Amino acid sequence: MSGPTQASSAENLSMLKIMIETSDGGFMERAAVAGETLMAALRDAGEVEGTCGGCCSCATCHVHISSQWMTRIGAVSEDELTLLEDLDGYEPERSRLSCQILMEEKLDGIEIAIPSE
Ligand code: FES
Repeated sequence: MSGPTQASSAENLSMLKIMIETSDGGFMERAAVAGETLMAALRDAGEVEGTCGGCCSCATCHVHISSQWMTRIGAVSEDELTLLEDLDGYEPERSRLSCQILMEEKLDGIEIAIPSE
């Protein structure tokens, strides 16, 4: 029977929450699969472009990360920082390229904002 097999496969995929701050200070929720990048989840939801596909060369996946979550993600690389610093919406304490962030359990519920540049 294919039904139960498909259901158990779906259950094995760990779904994580992404909380996107809205202009009125609230949050809307999007989903990510553990193991994909934050950019891939946001691009699939139509929230960022991710033009280069995650090669760290376009910066169209720029996001602002809430401060309490910044300590849970890896350090920014030299290449990423070079792109970030050229952006109008760059904020040193909050800016990251979402293609450089791998979604995993410790990021379930991550709070971000999409800069309006
Ligand atoms: S998708 Fe191009 S830099 Fe992130």
